[in-house]
Amino acid sequence: MSHSGADKHVLLTGANGFVASHILSILIDRGYAITATVRSQSKADDIIKTHPSWKQSIEFAIVADFTSEEPFDTIFRNAKNPFDYVVHTASPLKFQAEDIQKEMIEPAEMGTTEILKATQKYGGPSIKRFVLLGSAVSVLNSFEDITKEGKPYTEKDWNPVTAEQAIERHDPVLGYNVSKTRAEAAAWEFIKKNKPGFDLAVINPDIITGPMIHPIDGPGSINQTNHFAVASFIDGTHKQIEGIRFPFYHSVDVRDVARSHVDALTNPAASNQRILLIAGLIAPQIVANTIRENFPQLKYRVPEGNPSQLLPPGVQPTGWDMRVSLDILAKGTKEGRWNYVDVKTSVVDTVKSMLENGVI
Ligand SMILES: NC(=O)c1ccc[n+]([C@@H]2O[C@H](COP(=O)([O-])OP(=O)(O)OC[C@H]3O[C@@H](n4cnc5c(N)ncnc54)[C@H](OP(=O)(O)O)[C@@H]3O)[C@@H](O)[C@H]2O)c1
Repeated sequence: MSHSGADKHVLLTGANGFVASHILSILIDRGYAITATVRSQSKADDIIKTHPSWKQSIEFAIVADFTSEEPFDTIFRNAKNPFDYVVHTASPLKFQAEDIQKEMIEPAEMGTTEILKATQKYGGPSIKRFVLLGSAVSVLNSFEDITKEGKPYTEKDWNPVTAEQAIERHDPVLGYNVSKTRAEAAAWEFIKKNKPGFDLAVINPDIITGPMIHPIDGPGSINQTNHFAVASFIDGTHKQIEGIRFPFYHSVDVRDVARSHVDALTNPAASNQRILLIAGLIAPQIVANTIRENFPQLKYRVPEGNPSQLLPPGVQPTGWDMRVSLDILAKGTKEGRWNYVDVKTSVVDTVKSMLENGVI
């Protein structure tokens, strides 16, 4: 299988994001031509200011609002060269919202269906695959009994959570889970109903941590998940470990998430598959221990908790049966083997990147 993208043209959405910045970096390394969407010209300028050497490799297109009329049509109609692949990452990822339906669910779902419609209508016969950055939250059950380890999740599982439940409880984490579940379901439905000339691959990662290469301008630029899973243990958000709960207890490094997307463009085994991405367990105490063991200069800022009690008392998260996904991931690599960055290395590299960027 080819790992060089020379002459192939990729449309990447949400290019200034935490994950998309790593996808961009790998696409450039592998020689792809890239059209990248951002919400404003200043966000495109920030990417180039952060990575001046990327300037020659990226054309930018502005998509200010997913919920506007046919937001992606002009990108396809104006493209100088036809596209071969689409990688759709842009979606609201925040755990605060006034209006869950309008701010979270609608943009996620509409962003996905609008770009699929435009890809089919204007993409032409050169388009081979649409890779969607989904989430493990559309696989797991938001209402799982966290005190009992259940049957491991597989690629066949779907989160039963509904918009009504998220809105009724005004719970933005549930709202996010609904937004990702509905967006992914809409993508599969689109493929089933419209039978376009391209196929779909969905990547479903759990919590993503790892070094940040997106434009950074102070502590507010730390992406949502690196903040709750790592920075919040250093910046004074948490005074103690006892009582802290994560919304999910498995994670994966951003570099593996990015690599899986670029591999998935050309991996025949990824065709019309959901691919789970989970490297291992993460929990408040695991993060605190890792920072305290590896960064003596930060020790006084990170609560100690009880270093031998890795999971919060009473928490027994359900695991993941990764066999099918691991086989697909391995087939997408040059070496025929998929190796994860382990959770502790990911946390260490996240903290290093925060220190280098002066944001903690
Ligand atoms: N981080 C995780 O733990 C995790 C886990 C599983 C899946 N994911 C998925 O990975 C993707 C990227 O997440 P990330 O962690 O990289 O988050 P991020 O840094 O916040 O990136 C999100 C990207 O989506 C864009 N976006 C958000 N709302 C939008 C809207 N209404 N219209 C147009 N663009 C919009 C953002 O643009 P602006 O910068 O202009 O707001 C940004 O480019 C998302 O689809 C997320 O659901 C993330």
